[in-house]
Amino acid sequence: MGREQLVPLWNFFSEWFTHEPRVAAQPYLWHYDGLRDLLLESADIISAKEAERRVLVLENPGLAGRHLVTDTLYAGLQVITPGEVAPAHRHTPVALRFVMEGTGGYTAVEGERTWMEPGDFIVTPSWAWHDHGHEGEGPFIWLDVLDVPTIRFLGANFTERYPQERFPQGPPVDDSLHRYGTNMRPVGYARESLASPVFSYPYSRTREALERLKQHSEWDPYHGLKMEYIDPTTGGPAIPTISTFIQLLPKGFATETYRSTDGGVFAVAEGTGTVTIGTGEAAKQFRFAKRDIFSVPCWAPYSIVADEESVIFSASDRSVQTKLGIWREQR
Ligand SMILES: [Fe+2]
Repeated sequence: MGREQLVPLWNFFSEWFTHEPRVAAQPYLWHYDGLRDLLLESADIISAKEAERRVLVLENPGLAGRHLVTDTLYAGLQVITPGEVAPAHRHTPVALRFVMEGTGGYTAVEGERTWMEPGDFIVTPSWAWHDHGHEGEGPFIWLDVLDVPTIRFLGANFTERYPQERFPQGPPVDDSLHRYGTNMRPVGYARESLASPVFSYPYSRTREALERLKQHSEWDPYHGLKMEYIDPTTGGPAIPTISTFIQLLPKGFATETYRSTDGGVFAVAEGTGTVTIGTGEAAKQFRFAKRDIFSVPCWAPYSIVADEESVIFSASDRSVQTKLGIWREQR
């Protein structure tokens, strides 16, 4: 069989066709305080220009050497210091940013800038030129999440560097947000790509919506008050391959145990509490505080107890799974 390039299926049938998902990722939480010191130290060792992107990658202990936060997502913390520029490039994987700290940092997509504030959710669509800069003071830090594993799996992985440091200036600051992000769109708008034309979802707007909604909401026992970021022109996910969410849990709220086939990476925007991930002896409990990041593997049950009012951002591959018709949840 081997000489004829043949392999018997029965040798690995049960490995491939499993009763339930079997993934490599493990429950894990990164405490921001510890990471921050290392991140700042990295800024002394290598410049953003030398590094192209100065990122410390959040590598799940179950995915050692694979550089991934879950089986299907990459995540890392990126820092830039005042005056630095992370040079313009583009790639087929989509990137999202969730801003951790700092003021005066910007991202430019195709030359259009948006100033970033903590809690902002920023999208860099597939194959869009982008550069980052910092014109404020102190370090500027955000979480990157990319769909690299999906793109690498499919093979369609392209990257290109722009010949200059910055992409030429495009539309005015936040033009897209004003044009597409206020429940209106230009007359005659025709969709040109799968990417949401809005690439900045400011925390000030998100937070205000949550604040209003919490006054009169039926709390979902599994999620509290959970909202999904969308592409306003379609109502679909803000990113074709990554679903993104923000949830508010009131002080003292304890979610029921929940699981779904997307799992994902969670970043705490506000609050403190405890998250329990996994079942039985494999269950792990972590204390979380503002800016901590945790990884929930596919199909791992989890529950969250909020000691203070907490706001949590999350990203997962749900939008891929729903397009394929395979997404499941268990309440
Ligand atoms: Fe990039």
